[in-house]
Amino acid sequence: MAEFVRVAGKADVQPGQGKVVEVNEKMLAIFNVDGTFHVLDNECPHRGGSLGEGDLEGCVITCPWHRWEYDIASGDCVNEPSTKKAEVYQVKVEGDDIKVLL
Ligand code: FES
Repeated sequence: MAEFVRVAGKADVQPGQGKVVEVNEKMLAIFNVDGTFHVLDNECPHRGGSLGEGDLEGCVITCPWHRWEYDIASGDCVNEPSTKKAEVYQVKVEGDDIKVLL
């Protein structure tokens, strides 16, 4: 059964930054956009680049491998719309913890 699992502390991901964590054998990319946290599967749907190590600009993450861009709220690929979406997870902040429905 899916449940909310702690993936990081709020202070671990600074505004405008991304962070890669491993939780429950999944690699996740956590992003902080002006205090709002978003979590995606870290693996780029194109060829598996690490989205958490990409460049974050506003709500768009650019994959470091081939520069595909994803909206981190929806998972939609912005510059290659016909491609598969990045997987987005439901996020909840509780106290100082960032939690994700896994
Ligand atoms: S692996 Fe991400 S754009 Fe190619």
